Amino acid sequence: MHQRKSWWRKKSCGDQHGLNLVAALKKQIKDKNLPQNIRAQKSGCLGICDFGPTVAVYPEGIFYVNVHLSDVEEIVESHIVNNTPVDRLLLKHKKDV
Ligand code: FES
Repeated sequence: MHQRKSWWRKKSCGDQHGLNLVAALKKQIKDKNLPQNIRAQKSGCLGICDFGPTVAVYPEGIFYVNVHLSDVEEIVESHIVNNTPVDRLLLKHKKDV
């Protein structure tokens, strides 16, 4: 049986700053006093670790990848408040490469 060496393992969102993203999203939602049905929560692996920390927005099923803390306010304001996805962070652009 072959096991991958730990240094080969892809970094998970949590290994990077995924949990900080969750906290920042929760803060934005609270600060903007958004309705209680809008929530941020951590998830298990979404299977696209290669693309960097991921934020999935449901029910739309939109995935933002390589998300940085500096992107959180834009995601909330543009996507959640104004229903306009943040195009530059969408997973579709990564698949086209
Ligand atoms: S841990 Fe986030 S996509 Fe795998």
